[in-house]
Amino acid sequence: MDIVHVSDIHFGREDKRALAAFGAYLEKTPADLLVISGDLTQTGRRTEFRAAKIWAEGLGHNLLVTPGNHDAPAINVFSRLRGPYLRYRRHFGRKETVSTPLAAIATLKTAHGFQFRLNWAHGAIRSSDLGRTEATVRNSKAVWRLVVAHHPLADPVNSRVQGKTRGGMKALEALASAGADFVLTGHTHEPFVVPFPKQAPKIVLVGAGTLSERTRDHAAAINRIKLSAESASIEQLSLSGSTFDIVGRFRFARTAFPHSAIA
Ligand SMILES: [Fe+2]
Repeated sequence: MDIVHVSDIHFGREDKRALAAFGAYLEKTPADLLVISGDLTQTGRRTEFRAAKIWAEGLGHNLLVTPGNHDAPAINVFSRLRGPYLRYRRHFGRKETVSTPLAAIATLKTAHGFQFRLNWAHGAIRSSDLGRTEATVRNSKAVWRLVVAHHPLADPVNSRVQGKTRGGMKALEALASAGADFVLTGHTHEPFVVPFPKQAPKIVLVGAGTLSERTRDHAAAINRIKLSAESASIEQLSLSGSTFDIVGRFRFARTAFPHSAIA
């Protein structure tokens, strides 16, 4: 099973060159599932959502999508008050899991319209959301179990932008205990593959880059996750000119997961 993982397209500030290259890449090497880990739009406007939906559906792939902090209306306060993720759901629906004998993939919402702190762009995990995702992971009989969230649950050390996800550590512990193998996230606009915790890894944190103009220290980037009964491999691809090229590869054996990582 092949999963392509992209994030942070930020329609309104999308990178047209990256999207063209991505379209060509997917046409040449299709996947079984396309995971989009949030921030489809820049400011949550209807026009941005429409463009994001046309783009996503036009790729002709099975989709699993979760919203990001940019997907709540930023300008229209009334819309935000009425329901910060109404527009998102109207365009991308409520699908939260994909399940096959080989892989169960479940979303976990980390973005919210309001929070009791100054910066609402950071991540936070509600116990009801965690409970639902944790149960899906725990009850699955699939060989591999993956969680998709917008904000990293633990921040990668060198990342310039941090998710500062409230409840992230607790969620990581709970999801690892439930049997999750990978957590796929966006938000930082920087790709990473980090086994966690470092000393005795139980779960692997996987960040995608961005397909927007808002690149930070990395060019536009995507991930491809290849799952078989024996192993999982992750390819990191970066935009170089007009193509996505492989720049990193990681492999994990099922029997010794994740201690057998070969970078
Ligand atoms: Fe974000």
